[in-house]
Amino acid sequence: MGERPVITHQFDAVIVGAGGAGLMGALWLVQPFEQSSAKKKPTIAVVSKLYPTRSHTGAAQGGIGAALGNLENDSWEWHMFDTVKGSDYLADQDAVEIMCREAIETVYELEHWGLPFNRTPDGKIDQRRFGGHTRELGKGPVRRSCYAADRTGHMILQTLYQQCLKHEVTFFDEFHLMDLLMAGDRCVGLVALEIATGALHVFQTKAVLLATGGFGRMYQITSNAHALTGDGVALAYQRGIPLEDMEFFQFHPTGIYKMGILLSEAARGEGGILRNGEGEQFMQRYAATLLDLAPRDMISRSIYLEIRAGRGVNGQDYVLLDLTHLGRKVIESKLPDITDFVRTYLGIDPVKAPIPIQPTAHYAMGGIPTNVRGQVILDAQGTSAPGLYAAGECACVSVHGANRLGTNSLVDILVFGRRAGRAIAESLDTLKAPPLPKNPEAPIREKIAQLFDSRGTERVATIRSELQQVMMDHVSVFREASGLTQAQEKIQALKSRMARVTLSDRGLQFNTELLEALELVNLLALAEVTAACALIRQESRGAHFREDFPKRDDGQWLKHTLATRAQDGSIQFSFKSVSITRFAPQERKY
Ligand code: FUM
Repeated sequence: MGERPVITHQFDAVIVGAGGAGLMGALWLVQPFEQSSAKKKPTIAVVSKLYPTRSHTGAAQGGIGAALGNLENDSWEWHMFDTVKGSDYLADQDAVEIMCREAIETVYELEHWGLPFNRTPDGKIDQRRFGGHTRELGKGPVRRSCYAADRTGHMILQTLYQQCLKHEVTFFDEFHLMDLLMAGDRCVGLVALEIATGALHVFQTKAVLLATGGFGRMYQITSNAHALTGDGVALAYQRGIPLEDMEFFQFHPTGIYKMGILLSEAARGEGGILRNGEGEQFMQRYAATLLDLAPRDMISRSIYLEIRAGRGVNGQDYVLLDLTHLGRKVIESKLPDITDFVRTYLGIDPVKAPIPIQPTAHYAMGGIPTNVRGQVILDAQGTSAPGLYAAGECACVSVHGANRLGTNSLVDILVFGRRAGRAIAESLDTLKAPPLPKNPEAPIREKIAQLFDSRGTERVATIRSELQQVMMDHVSVFREASGLTQAQEKIQALKSRMARVTLSDRGLQFNTELLEALELVNLLALAEVTAACALIRQESRGAHFREDFPKRDDGQWLKHTLATRAQDGSIQFSFKSVSITRFAPQERKY
């Protein structure tokens, strides 16, 4: 193996991640300067471990929620109410209000940039129903999701990437984030590994925006792509940044059975029905008003309750998504991608037969805490870390609280990606680039050397699959203390075994074995925090259902969890109050 080169760069701002949040952040960083000749355009870089158009935003299928009211009366206040209620009252309402108001201008901005939305006969953006989105504060479903067939995220990604190319944003594609460089609480840059060459790149900058996405790969059944290993979240945690509300992980009700591949909620928005093994529309038992369009946490739990009651299909652990009554035209024109997936992966034609489904790990509600300007915050008082920003799934602002509504992830990434970009642009004059620490890449060289020097017999793939299994068994839709404790013990054992992993490839170029090991270290850290937070929260709220504490407990637990890594590697907990501005917590009925 040759010497690993080190290359140093200087940019005014560096964005990590090229999904919706990162690209939107980039556009809002450069645009204001292009519109005014008074100021020099800042230099910005987008560093991404994938080619940008392969980012996971592309997997968001059914739409982006915005109260345009194109087909029915709607208002951002109703969108806000639904989001707060959907969150089981844990979302910060000041942030939710901003999101629901700014969703509208954000969707029109995408339209003006050329996003090919589906259209109504009179040429407006078409809108469809989605889970938990209602008219008049819960009276019945409303058409709020603006969509491009079942490829909305894909279209958003293409549109934003084209705009970034037009604005001459500099991209570093297939660069893996290795470290955040901090001088105390001040972020001064980052280190990334160039996957093609193995070179280490040190970026010195005034501001870093983390937009690295989620970490669903800690679960065995997940809708998340292989790249979703929480690198930004894990490295922030490693650097002493607290993580917020990590106990809340969403299971989307309709993943393809045993594979987890997402079948959009848009299928139910278009009229699809969930049926148990007896052919019954079982959601009548659990959500009499919204039925199959109840929020995801309720539907995922209901599916498992049906299975436990012996009403899975043929006594097995799955139920059916039935689209057969929708007809070929609706299925093939409005849901073309998922139709294709079902035909390809299951050999079933959804026009003719119902589809076996099970809940699939989909979305992290928790993450790096931020304020509404995207600044990373360090404590319950809201002290910000200068020069460090986060947006998108890796961040927790918190607009989703204990359970996110479908379509609100696209809204979140775009509204808060935009806000973070704008906030960085406004701060560039005052932020000075402080000096880098001496040999900033040294800890990373050391980390890689340790992995290469290990001569144990453990394999990355074995440890990863054992992690995914234990998370699925004990830290998923239903949880209780003894299972969570077992999960914690197992994760500790897996962390110890990680020290005995052997890599057979010690080369520089495209060393994907090394990458997978680094990603697994991140997943293990985040799984440890998730299980610990799930154990500490002794109540049930949104996606966090404790069988030993089945009720929501606002007296004790209407608060956010902050988990911080102590010097000795243990987790320290603190709590942050919830911002409640318009909607007092109520019983959550659908
Ligand atoms: O079901 C879906 O199309 C997923 C959307 C989302 O997670 O917001």
